[in-house]
Amino acid sequence: YIVQIHAPVRTNKGAIRTAENYIPLDVPATWGAMEKLYDSGKARAIGVSNFSCKRMEDLLAIARVTPAVNQVESHPGWQQMKLRELCRSKGVHLSAYSPLGRPGSPAFTGPSFLSNPIVVSIAEKLQRSPAQVALRWGLQVGQSVLPKSINETRIKENFNIFDWSIPEDLMSKFSEIPQIKTLRAEFVVHPQGIYKTVEDFWDGEI
Ligand code: A2P
Repeated sequence: YIVQIHAPVRTNKGAIRTAENYIPLDVPATWGAMEKLYDSGKARAIGVSNFSCKRMEDLLAIARVTPAVNQVESHPGWQQMKLRELCRSKGVHLSAYSPLGRPGSPAFTGPSFLSNPIVVSIAEKLQRSPAQVALRWGLQVGQSVLPKSINETRIKENFNIFDWSIPEDLMSKFSEIPQIKTLRAEFVVHPQGIYKTVEDFWDGEI
C-alpha cells in the first residue's frame, strides 16, 4: 500500500472536520506517525497530497523517510512547474489528480483549458482529443495522471496515450496557456478559522 496524507488540514481529536475547526498542522508529529507506519511494513510507501512548495520544504526539512509522492492538481491549465521542479530535485514523484481540470465541475466557473485554442490546435495537428493531449502532456513532463470518467468511450480514450507523443516544438507551446487553479478548496476557508482565504491555505502559491 501507499498511504498518503490527503490534505494539509488538522482538527482537534474528535472535532468535526469543518473549516472553522482547523488547527495549525504539526508536520513533525504527523510525518513521524507516517514513518512509523512505513517502518512497520504496513505501508510500502508514504506520501502527501495538496502540499505547496512551502509545505514540501517544511516536510523535507524534518523527514527521515522522504515522501514517495505529492499528489496535486496538475494539468496544462495549472502546470505546477515550480512544485514539479522541487519534487524532481528531491526525488518525490508528482502525481496529478484532476489532470483534465475537472471540466464541468460546479466548483469551477471559468472556461476549461480543454477549449483553449493552443490545446485545441495541438489536438487537431496530432489528430487526438484535447483530453488526450492534456494527459499526454502530463506524462511527458514526468507526472502520473489519474483522470476520472464514468463513460466507457472516454475511459478508453484516456488510456490511449501511450503509443504516440507530442513533439518538442508543440510541447513548448504549453507555456503560453493561462494558468488558473481549478480546485481552489474554498471549503477550507472560514472567517474564524486559521485559513481566512484560499491563498492562506495554498501558502500564496495560487
Ligand atoms: P465523464 O465521467 O462524464 O466522462 P478530472 O479527472 O480532471 O477530475 O475530470 C473528471 C471529469 O472529466 C469528469 O466529469 C469526466 O466526465 C470528464 N472527462 C473524463 N474524460 C474525459 C474526456 N476524455 N473528454 C472530456 N471530458 C472527460
